[in-house]
Amino acid sequence: MAVTRTFSIIKPDATRRNLTGAITKMLEEAGLRVVASKRIHMTKDQAEGFYAVHKERPFFNDLVAFMTSGPVVVQALEGEDAVKRNRDVMGATNPADAADGTIRKTFAESIEANSVHGSDSDENAKIEIDFFFKPEEIVG
Ligand code: CMP
Repeated sequence: MAVTRTFSIIKPDATRRNLTGAITKMLEEAGLRVVASKRIHMTKDQAEGFYAVHKERPFFNDLVAFMTSGPVVVQALEGEDAVKRNRDVMGATNPADAADGTIRKTFAESIEANSVHGSDSDENAKIEIDFFFKPEEIVG
């Protein structure tokens, strides 16, 4: 299995509850290594750009408002089959559907305030990492 990278966001509902360390620990225990990390307050432009694929969805405006409501921690993660590994430990988008032991089952408040984002493909992982990080900010 190849070592690849994925992109993660620890969302405002999680930073508000001081869960950055607890969530990062679960990512690390799942076999992922944090190779870049920064805590930022996303601008409206950044949130709209990052989630542009969802701009026709009914939840888009609420999603942008939520993602700009407080600090987030953006991370690049590395590991074997990183996209799948991260999605497995995150659990389903809706915490009501997430498996026991996943981040969203453990911490998420709702389908919107679902504590973490993770890339859904290697292609999107690259786009999303490049959206927030310069190459020199990633140290593997
Ligand atoms: P995320 O993985 O960051 O990708 C898009 C986000 O939209 C998703 O997690 C949820 O936080 C949010 N969202 C809000 N409502 C919905 C919905 N009905 N279906 C999917 N995603 C939703």
